Amino acid sequence: MKEKFAEMLRSTNREGVEIVLRNLERLGFFEAPASTVFHLNVSGGLLEHSMNVCEMALMLRDQLIAKDASLEEKLPLDSVILVSLLHDVCKSEVYKKGTRNKKIDGVWHEVETYEVDYSACPLGHGEKSVIRLMQWGLRLTMDEILAIRWHMGAWDLAFQSAEMKGNISAAKDKAPLCTLLQCADGLASGILESKK
Ligand SMILES: [Fe+2]
Ligand SMILES: [Fe+2]
Repeated sequence: MKEKFAEMLRSTNREGVEIVLRNLERLGFFEAPASTVFHLNVSGGLLEHSMNVCEMALMLRDQLIAKDASLEEKLPLDSVILVSLLHDVCKSEVYKKGTRNKKIDGVWHEVETYEVDYSACPLGHGEKSVIRLMQWGLRLTMDEILAIRWHMGAWDLAFQSAEMKGNISAAKDKAPLCTLLQCADGLASGILESKK
């Protein structure tokens, strides 16, 4: 799956992609889980989640363009691939392996678990992904920056402030890529990867 991820990223021919791949390797992106207790909380979970989001985003893009051909220009293929594969790079170095006690069949066992540690780069979530990617030299368009920055939508704590509410809705009006990524992320984490 790691090779497929790299192949898809390279297919965009975007300047900076190779440095991004090297940094993701260095920070542990390919071994990281997608969460501590929610979706895909296993090694490689973050990679699988990113690929799922990409698959959902490409499917939604096809359907939207079939409905309205003018959307092809607003949802470029390379942008859809880049934002879906890279929206959660902020999680690369956040999860640390730990242990906790869990009762299995009435007996307590020590089981492996993941804990969060934000100390390496405490910059937030979507904004951290954007900052990291740009710091590594990836060329992003404004629509891509907006989509990654606001991919958590109403789940983003910044959404509590009136100013940020205005920013999110303006970003969604300006770039349909924002709504596309939010939907693809929700379909992947909420349905495909749901444990319920
Ligand atoms: Fe996220
Ligand atoms: Fe995500």
